[in-house]
Amino acid sequence: MRLRDQPIRQKLMAILLLTTGGTLVLACAALLAYQFWTFRQTTLKQLSTLGNVIAANSTASLAFQNERDAREILAAFRADPHILAAGLYAKDGTLFSHYPADLPVTAFPAAPGRDGYRFEHAELVGFEPVTQVGNARLGTLYVESDLKAIYSTLQLTGAVVALVMGASLLVAYLLSSALQRTISQPLLALAETARVVSDRQDYSVRAPALGKDELGLLTDAFNQMLGRIEDQDRVLRQNVAEVERSNKELEQFAYVASHDLQEPLRMVSSFTELLERRYGDKLDEKGRKFVRYAVDGAIRMQRLINDLLDFSRVSTRGKAMQPVDMGQVLDTVRLNLSVSLKESGAVVTNDPLPTVTADETQMVQLLQNLVGNAIKFRTADRPHIHVSAQATATEWVFAVRDNGIGIAPEYFERIFVIFQRLHARGEYPGTGIGLAVCRRIVERHGGRIWVASVPGQGATFSFALPHHNGEQAL
Ligand SMILES: Nc1ncnc2c1ncn2[C@@H]1O[C@H](COP(=O)(O)OP(=O)(O)O)[C@@H](O)[C@H]1O
Ligand SMILES: [Mg+2]
Repeated sequence: MRLRDQPIRQKLMAILLLTTGGTLVLACAALLAYQFWTFRQTTLKQLSTLGNVIAANSTASLAFQNERDAREILAAFRADPHILAAGLYAKDGTLFSHYPADLPVTAFPAAPGRDGYRFEHAELVGFEPVTQVGNARLGTLYVESDLKAIYSTLQLTGAVVALVMGASLLVAYLLSSALQRTISQPLLALAETARVVSDRQDYSVRAPALGKDELGLLTDAFNQMLGRIEDQDRVLRQNVAEVERSNKELEQFAYVASHDLQEPLRMVSSFTELLERRYGDKLDEKGRKFVRYAVDGAIRMQRLINDLLDFSRVSTRGKAMQPVDMGQVLDTVRLNLSVSLKESGAVVTNDPLPTVTADETQMVQLLQNLVGNAIKFRTADRPHIHVSAQATATEWVFAVRDNGIGIAPEYFERIFVIFQRLHARGEYPGTGIGLAVCRRIVERHGGRIWVASVPGQGATFSFALPHHNGEQAL
């Protein structure tokens, strides 16, 4: 996992520990390097002092070619276990005496090298001139020392440094895990509050303020924001409840009014019909016309009341959602409209239609209203109506296309409002409720409805129903 995705606590710990660890490693490395360098210098100095002393002591043995003396002097190197080899070279460059005595001569340089002390490979070697008091050179002393002293000291220092580093890191870990809390805790509390808010949609929770720093300010601002959202949410809920209540009331009113109006209306229409039938011949032409108007009016009112009842029943009398085969729904519509289909000579064609989760009765009502309008608002041409459906990622989009009179764009919204019609009753009969019912049905199903049209070239009414689980395939 990337550092960016780690929890804030771990991120802070990682940052603190990496910083302390990094500086510690750098400091220790510098310390070790400095120690290594000074120790080398000291060792070199010590060996050169020793060489100097031994060389000064060897003058007599070289001057008098006294081999025994020379060996004894060289044997003094025994005191330092790090001296690996030592040799005295005569003036002509031949090895005159060497230490340890059992070391083969071949282990020594064939001839003395340049004067001075230097590190070679893993050893320190030195060539010290052996000179008499008058500066006449008698020969050269060769010394070879290992560097184990340096390395063992370094090892010891290394172990101490590692120990100190371990202890320091432990202390750093304990300190940082205590200190990181001052930063991580307010953030965690904030994140937890945000989670509760989004999980439960509960805006009454507040994040605890743990200080007065920037995080404290952030927490305060967050809490204030929650407070404002809570207020707005409350107002919104109240408004929604109010709208729902008044909507219900209106529905109830429309229902009761249209329902209760039916009874007296039935009386009016049946008695006017009776009047026409029984006394029609006793009335003069004018009288019969009046009665016909009265019958007409009663019939129209009947239709209006029925439509209003339909409208108010969309949500109050809606049935449960279930799988509905829209192909079958269209067949039912064809059957219901068979008379007007025959009269107008209209053809209703369709693409394969899917099964959707819906209220079947309302689907029939919806399609029947749309197809009925398509037949009603026809031109002199033979009406051709085509019903199709297309799936998008989120919904089914149905379309009812006709070749009728069409609608001007400025009326695209208005026609879905109840009682809104574009024509006089004499031109095309109707109550102006059909499309309002359609819209209520579609909205009850969580969808939307709209129209596209070019006047004179027909109209296409589309409605979209959201997909329910696993409802994609045709
Ligand atoms: N297929 C259509 N072609 C042209 N105009 C239409 C069509 N469908 C609806 N309209 C217009 O929308 C208005 C409202 O339709 P609707 O609510 O069904 O009422 P109604 O059918 O009772 O007139 C209609 O009066 C008509 O002007
Ligand atoms: Mg209509």
